[in-house]
Amino acid sequence: MQTINICQGPQNVSRLILGCMRMPALSRETAAEMIRTAVDLGINYFDHATVYGAGEAERRFAEAFALTDLKREDLIIQSKCGILPAEKIFDWRKDSIIESVDQILQRLQTEYLDVLLLHRPDLLFDPEQVAAAFDQLEASGKVRTFGISNTMPMQIELLKKYVRQPLKINQLQLSLEQSQLIDQDLYMNNKTTELSVMRDGGALCYCRLHDITIQAWSPLQHGMFGGMFIDNPDFPELNEALADLADKYNATKAAIAIAWILRHPAKMQVIAGTMNPVHLKEMAEADRIDLTHEEWYRLYLASGKFLP
Ligand SMILES: NC(=O)c1ccc[n+]([C@@H]2O[C@H](COP(=O)([O-])OP(=O)(O)OC[C@H]3O[C@@H](n4cnc5c(N)ncnc54)[C@H](OP(=O)(O)O)[C@@H]3O)[C@@H](O)[C@H]2O)c1
Repeated sequence: MQTINICQGPQNVSRLILGCMRMPALSRETAAEMIRTAVDLGINYFDHATVYGAGEAERRFAEAFALTDLKREDLIIQSKCGILPAEKIFDWRKDSIIESVDQILQRLQTEYLDVLLLHRPDLLFDPEQVAAAFDQLEASGKVRTFGISNTMPMQIELLKKYVRQPLKINQLQLSLEQSQLIDQDLYMNNKTTELSVMRDGGALCYCRLHDITIQAWSPLQHGMFGGMFIDNPDFPELNEALADLADKYNATKAAIAIAWILRHPAKMQVIAGTMNPVHLKEMAEADRIDLTHEEWYRLYLASGKFLP
């Protein structure tokens, strides 16, 4: 698997990340098989969040990891905090961030996180509180690299005014069907289509300008957890284009959908959410597929967009 270096962050990390949101559905043994399969494929990066299975994903990962003979230092373990579903709030206050990280470390049975992301912006966030939390977490050695998720450029700028640590990762939704991250750059200044609406403050260009690695979440889903677009009769044209290229590259449609994201020059990472080792192997084939310029556009247009 090809690797990338995250600017001022972990180096030699796999382009594919295994997202562990769906791991609570697995037994300890099958979760261990999933982790081993990922590592055998060259995937060294694992994504978590406090909210995945209300902590169960992190617990299951730790139990499963203990069944492998892998070394902690060979993996990049990332988690996210800032969402408190029971309280129905987002919370970036200092004590909440610090307490969340302590709980994450306990559940993951590790002494440090390679990367901590703030999951979704707290509408009441005070950047000085975030800065104080990050300083403490860095000084204690509990977190090595910091970033954000679903966060807009101006919010990042506001954080940067106070936070000393570089924020070099932004986890954002992107798939062939949910491509608003890209659409808004195409239809600018066009009031005849909803696709021209800038929904994220220009996050794609901002992240590229500031060497922030984008991690694309839900790469095979339509809508917000609407289900897969692959083999979905609601997306006939897209599936036909994916099938043609799958034939050409001797891969699956899912691999082509991942290759479409990897082909973007922003050098994004893709977070795969499968908990099926066979599916993961198929998706990892995306790493060897370098779609042409024309093929990238064909898929984009087949997903229902049009050139202005
Ligand atoms: N930052 C955020 O706000 C945010 C939000 C959501 C998710 N995430 C992260 O992104 C990760 C991925 O999200 P996701 O699970 O929605 O992504 P996904 O990779 O688009 O979807 C995975 C789902 O597709 C299914 N699937 C069915 N056929 C498949 C095939 N042929 N190949 C691959 N998958 C197939 C998988 O089932 P099988 O297991 O049966 O293969 C699984 O249920 C999460 O684990 C999480 O780490 C972040």
